[in-house]
Parts: sequence; structure tokens; C-alpha cells
Amino acid sequence: MRRALTVPMLGMLVSILAAGNALSAQGEIKLPRPALQGKMSVEQAITGRKSSRDFKAAPLSLGEVGQLLWAANGMIPADAVTGATRKVMPSAGGLYPLEVFILTGNNTVENVPAGVYQYNPNAHSLKEVATGDKRTLLAHAALGQMWLARAPAVVVIGAVFARTTAKYGNRGVNYVFMEAGNSDQNLCLQAEALGLRTGTVGAFNDAQVAGAIQMPGDTAPLLVIGVGK
Ligand SMILES: Cc1cc2nc3c(=O)[nH]c(=O)nc-3n(C[C@H](O)[C@H](O)[C@H](O)COP(=O)(O)O)c2cc1C
Repeated sequence: MRRALTVPMLGMLVSILAAGNALSAQGEIKLPRPALQGKMSVEQAITGRKSSRDFKAAPLSLGEVGQLLWAANGMIPADAVTGATRKVMPSAGGLYPLEVFILTGNNTVENVPAGVYQYNPNAHSLKEVATGDKRTLLAHAALGQMWLARAPAVVVIGAVFARTTAKYGNRGVNYVFMEAGNSDQNLCLQAEALGLRTGTVGAFNDAQVAGAIQMPGDTAPLLVIGVGK
């Protein structure tokens, strides 16, 4: 007997197909709650941090990726009663121009399909921007720094300049660059504290990076960071 596929059956099919990755039907991946305490002192993290351009093939866990993105652009619970939050770093005028993206390959981040994702700080989740492994495209956009294509995850710190320049004019441009540095350093120190390696890259063609990761039109790429073990 032939039976039509009902909505619940379709839902079940989607769940079965999605098993093994954390991507919801809406293209969202919920990240594990970030730890607010770690095993390494900030002094040890500062002392240990150095650039790496060589990574093991070992995948990163979803928890590691969540912790890194939280450090780069996340929210801190500020008031348990009201549920108020604040950001992990200072921002001129509290305008928070940064947007952070992550590129993954096939099985390079556990439970995350190869693709490009935008970090949502409020939901502490990833939103799918593009599917497929874009790391090689990005490495070419970074003037052929092919080691980036071998990093299990590549983070791109971008910014919507207008959020800050609407208030501060041209001076706001400086502020946005400074804030990208804050974000990069937070990420690098967090990686160090997790026993991960990072390599920060500023040499790239802006338009090619934006194209490679299908960055929203109002956002400009500022820094690229290869991450791995
Ligand atoms: C804004 C900026 C841009 C950088 N661009 C690149 C880059 O394109 N390629 C690269 O291999 N390293 C790049 N680096 C990393 C530096 O080469 C590195 O930080 C420097 O040599 C000091 O080494 P350390 O990070 O191990 O302390 C960049 C660093 C910064 C802060």
C-alpha cells in the first residue's frame, strides 16, 4: 500500500538525515553554554600565545568553537534577576560594530557540516551563511596563504562600520579597527587557554574574502584567524 508522506513523517525524516550534525532545519546551530572559568591564568595565556601556521588534522569540538566565538564577540550574564547581559569587550559608544564568521570543512568541527556560519552573540548560536568548504577560496583571497585551508576552522572578524561612523564620523573608522584587535586578542588568548593554536592574518583582498564567505553587503572583513590544534 502506498502512503503519502505526512508532515510528522517528513519531520522524522529531517531528524534522521540531520542526525550526526547539530544543524537545525532553520540552518541554526546552538552552541554549548560557554564556560566562565578556565584552567589557565590570563598571565599564562598571554605568555603562551604565539602565532601558528601549522595545525593537526584533529577536529575541534563544538564546545571549543563556541568558547572561541564567545570570547571574540559574546555576551556575559550581567544580572541574574533581569537577565541583562554585556559584551566581552569594550566598544566605542557601546555600538558593537563587529560581526564574526567561521568557516568549517568536512568533519573539521564536530557535528558541524562544512560551511560558513555567522555567530549570533545573543542566542550563542551559529547561523548558516553558505554551505560547503570555503577555506581554500579564503586562503586564495588571503594572497595564497594556503596554510589557512588546512586550519580546521577559520574565523573572520568583520564589521558594520556604519554602526560606529554614524555617531563618530571618520574617527569611528579608527574605533572599529581597534575593536577588531580587541576581538582577535580575546580569541587568541581563549584559544591558548584551551590548548589551541591560532594564526592571525591581515594580508588579504577584502572583496575576495567577502565574496568567498558570502558576507552580508553591509559588512567588511577586517581580520582572518586560522584555528586548530
Ligand atoms: C594585523 C595583523 C596582521 C597579520 N597578518 C598576517 C598575515 O597576513 N600572515 C601571517 O602569516 N601572519 C600575520 N600576522 C601575524 C604576525 O606575523 C605575528 O603576529 C608576528 O610575526 C608576531 O609573532 P607572534 O604572533 O607569534 O607573537 C598578522 C598579525 C597582525 C596583528
